[in-house]
Amino acid sequence: MKTLDQVDLSGKRVFLRVDFNVPLSKDRASVTDDRRIRAILPSLEKIRGSGGKAVLASHLGRPKGQRIPEYSLKPVAAHLSKILGRDVPLASDCVGDDVKRLVEALQPGEAILLENLRFHPGEEKNDPDFSRRLAELADVYVNDAFAVSHRAHASVEGITHHVPVCAAGYQLEKELHAFREAMEDPKRPLALVIAGAKVSTKIGLLENLIPRIDLLVIGGAMANTFLKQKGFGVGRSLVEDDHLQTAGNLLEKAAERGVRVLLPVDVVVAPSLEEGASARVVPVNEVPADAMVFDVGPKTMAAIREALSTCHTIVWNGPMGVFETPPFHRATFELAEFLGRSEAFTVVGGGDSASAVDKAGAAEKVSYVSTGGGAFLEMLEGKTLPGVAALEECSRKS
Ligand code: 3PG
Repeated sequence: MKTLDQVDLSGKRVFLRVDFNVPLSKDRASVTDDRRIRAILPSLEKIRGSGGKAVLASHLGRPKGQRIPEYSLKPVAAHLSKILGRDVPLASDCVGDDVKRLVEALQPGEAILLENLRFHPGEEKNDPDFSRRLAELADVYVNDAFAVSHRAHASVEGITHHVPVCAAGYQLEKELHAFREAMEDPKRPLALVIAGAKVSTKIGLLENLIPRIDLLVIGGAMANTFLKQKGFGVGRSLVEDDHLQTAGNLLEKAAERGVRVLLPVDVVVAPSLEEGASARVVPVNEVPADAMVFDVGPKTMAAIREALSTCHTIVWNGPMGVFETPPFHRATFELAEFLGRSEAFTVVGGGDSASAVDKAGAAEKVSYVSTGGGAFLEMLEGKTLPGVAALEECSRKS
């Protein structure tokens, strides 16, 4: 796969696919988390510094092929302009004659942002005509959008068949590198901390990784399903009854492979998920029938800390509790802080875990925070991302 450093950018129109699918304020006027925007700045600076003309393209949300004003990239263009200290205009669309004219008028070192790709149904359908229309704006295609590279969409996959030169941006390269270091040739012991709401969304990942890890820590609401499978009462907590068998099979597989599994030994329960609701810590065998589990408890966290402190590589995905609602935030933030202090190679992925690490002030301290959500999970499932495969194929041909 070619990288940015291996292609001639001077004077070229460089179509830079980024993932600016970022959270916006309630009034949708401003960006509330700009990690994904900052992540592509090195690639953008390289293109501009090499005399390239940067044509940035992204989706925002899921407007389903309709031009819906609240999904406009306008606040993103404003945010990017502010960070760069120079105006990055937003085109009124991402294809068409007007856009072509704007791109033709770009001078070396200048940049423009195209309007939301998903305003066109052809984007998600990976429609060849739409891919061709996008490709008309490019001499070089650069994918720096790891977080959407699991989607075989026109601007991620289709376009690579219609441009002469393709390359991976620095952010995409960094993501793939961190993933390889953590999963392909890890320093052992290798721990996976997997949490979040549902087992059902993590089955593929667990099946793929159990044979490769040394320690498995299970937290979040998904732990309830494992606890119930082991015969514990979990009150009125979120449980996937139709996945009790799956949970049992996964635990069996871990035992066969000699993987140590840590499940909660105590939990934080409350009658409801209201701020200030009377929360208390109970052992897992004493969850009241009318209570719900919203976080793992301090004894569990002590056991997790102790086990993780022996590991040299730690991968974390999913919050340990309902971390947006105090007092159920504790375990998630404690884990984030612990990973920040750890000397292991630590990789965090998924929107919630990444945001917890950020809020805990540990984002600069962990080894790597992925910008991906679904893409990160698909990598952990062992899948090849279509966007990455397309770059590899294009590089082979050019
Ligand atoms: C993400 O936020 O995970 C990516 O931008 C992909 O978005 P999607 O799930 O709407 O395709």
